[in-house]
This record gives sequence, structure tokens and C-alpha cells, in this order.
Amino acid sequence: MNIPPWPVSGDRELELLREVLASPQWGGFNPMVAKFERDFTAYQDARYGVSAMNGTVTLEMGLQALGIGPGDEVIVPAISFVSTATAVTRVGATPVFVDIEPSSYNIDPVRAALAVTSKTKAIFAVHFGGPMAQMDRLRELTDAFGLFLLEDAAHAHGTEWRGRRAGSLGTFGSFSFQNGKVMTAGEGGIVITNDEALSERIRSFANQGRRTDGASFFHHYTLGSNYRMTAFQAAVLIAQLERLPQQIELRNRNAQLLFSLLTDVEEIGFQKALPENNIHSYYLLVGHMLKGNRTEFVKKLNKLGVPNTPFYPHTLYQNPMYQRPDSCVVHDCPIAEDAITRSFWLPHRVLMGDEETTRNIASAIREACA
Ligand SMILES: Cc1ncc(COP(=O)(O)O)c(C=O)c1O
Repeated sequence: MNIPPWPVSGDRELELLREVLASPQWGGFNPMVAKFERDFTAYQDARYGVSAMNGTVTLEMGLQALGIGPGDEVIVPAISFVSTATAVTRVGATPVFVDIEPSSYNIDPVRAALAVTSKTKAIFAVHFGGPMAQMDRLRELTDAFGLFLLEDAAHAHGTEWRGRRAGSLGTFGSFSFQNGKVMTAGEGGIVITNDEALSERIRSFANQGRRTDGASFFHHYTLGSNYRMTAFQAAVLIAQLERLPQQIELRNRNAQLLFSLLTDVEEIGFQKALPENNIHSYYLLVGHMLKGNRTEFVKKLNKLGVPNTPFYPHTLYQNPMYQRPDSCVVHDCPIAEDAITRSFWLPHRVLMGDEETTRNIASAIREACA
């Protein structure tokens, strides 16, 4: 099976990395970091961006800068990577877990509405696997209750909702550039926003409480920390961003071919993006068993040379840390609990081969279902 490896790099990464190495500034104050922030933020259709060392601290930076903390609740979908929930816990607020929708795997706005209390400050939309949550319905909900709509867009680089890119629709959008993401520097993250004052608070927090107007290096105005991205990360990410649009096109072409070759397969179904979600970047190819045994299926598919993962082993609230009393609020999540038993995902590199490889992957999926 000729599935390309991930990550990929080329001459452009080397050229930019050499430029950093030859400079006297390898850290976050190298202009390459500011350039990456400008390039990525503009690509995602937002106005301000603050980069950081990973996509976990970016979530914490955003929440902290919004003043969310002890006594506050933040509504989080039961299916996500743990950082969406721990960021809420780490700022001292309480995550409130609600169910997802069965076809998009994203937060169910009806369930979210039922979970709002007088303590609720925000709702997190996590665009799981790439397809976006119901942003219009979530916006109506957050506007009606005076809440922040936040985007954990760690899976959604280049994904679009009615022509606007992920992360630019909420109060802030947070991205990860961890090793498996569709663009990567091994680690990395950014928060984007259209709110200038919020972006300044985020930058000050990530830069040891300094002011953003160039005031003295040794004057610290608020309690911050050092979350800065290095120039090496930025150099690699500038090159990765330049390649992203063609990669998204390739993954979409191959995904459409794959689906067309599997229309008659009754054993499995795939995650569905909503019609408003006009571009899906395919961070993950998420599927679920309609018939048959998932453990057998994923084992067979791996053996046939198609990498895959049998989904998260549990919902977020089933993690040991959220079993502690008063650590969270949990609403009924039958869809999420079903998803963890029946679902699986294939990494995006599965969609980055040539046509013949995609045809071979479709044959392997058929064989694994049999
Ligand atoms: C949905 C989601 N949010 C946040 C993160 C955290 O990003 P990082 O690994 O860069 O800290 C991830 C990471 O993989 C993720 O999948």
C-alpha cells in the first residue's frame, strides 16, 4: 500500500530554517514568528493571531484572557481531545459535558442549550476531525444567552463554514500544529480572533505580562507566563502553510473517490459535514460500524496496510481525572457513548496518495468488512 508518510517537508522548510539559524534570534522575537502569525491569521480569515508553543496552552491563553475562572461553567462536547476540557479546568472553571450529533460528531446545539445555567460563560465548538460544528445555531444560542462562542479548531485548518474559515467565527479560535496535524512543526499552536483588545490580553499573558506596545522588556503589568513559539517552529510552519491548499484539494479528491467506491458497502458509514461546511480539510477520515465488529475491522484493516485508530477509548468525562467529585458536570451523552464503541478514524495521510492507492484502500476497506 503506497500511503505517503507524515509529516512531509521540503527545500522551503530547509531554506527558512537556515535563515533562522543564521540570525541572532532563535526565539519568539524573531520576525519569522510575527510573519507566520500574519500569514496564518489572514489565511483563516481573522484579524489578530498570537502563536504559542502548542495547541493546549493556546486554549488556556484564550480562556484566561476572557477572564473565565472559578465559579464559571463552560459547555464542552463529550468527544474531543482532553485539552478542550483540561483548559477549562486549568483556569479554575468547570467543564459541562454535553452530547454530540451522530452524523457530524460535533456538539449538539439542542443539548448545549439545555445545559446553560446562570454560571455558563461560554460554549466550545470543537470541529472534530475537520467538519465544523453547527456554527449558525450555536451563534444564535450564545447570542440569546450572552455567552462566548469559542472554537477549538485544532482539527480544522483550512475548513470553511459558508465561505469563512474555521477559528474566525467565534470569539477566539485555537489551532494545534502538533505532529499529526495537517500542518505541523512537531509542536505549535495559535489563537486567532477579530477582537483587538482580546488579542492584546492574550499576547501579554503569553509573553510574561509585558505590554504589547513595546514598553520595557523588564516591565510586567499582569500575571503572565512564557508560552512563546520558537522561530524554528515558525519557519517550518510558514513552509507548511504554503503547501496546505494543494493538500486539502488532494484529500478532497481522494475522499470523494473513496466514498464513490464504497457506496454499496453496508457495514460502515462515514462522518458527514453539514452543507454550510463548504470546505472540509480532512484532518481525519472518521467512520463507524453499521454492522459487524469494530475490533475485528480495525485489526484487519491495519493488517492490510491501512493505518487506523479505534477512536478515543472513552468520552472526556470517563477519563479518570473527571471521575473526581465536583470536577465537572455531565449531561446524558448516549450518542458519544455509542460513538466510542463503534467508531474509528483513518489519518489524513491515507487520503494523500495517488488514484491507484485510493482504489487499493477502498478494496482493503471492503475486505476488512467481510
Ligand atoms: C481537539 C484538540 N484540541 C487541542 C489539542 C491540543 O493540541 P496540542 O497537542 O498542540 O497541545 C488537540 C491535539 O492534538 C486536539 O486534537
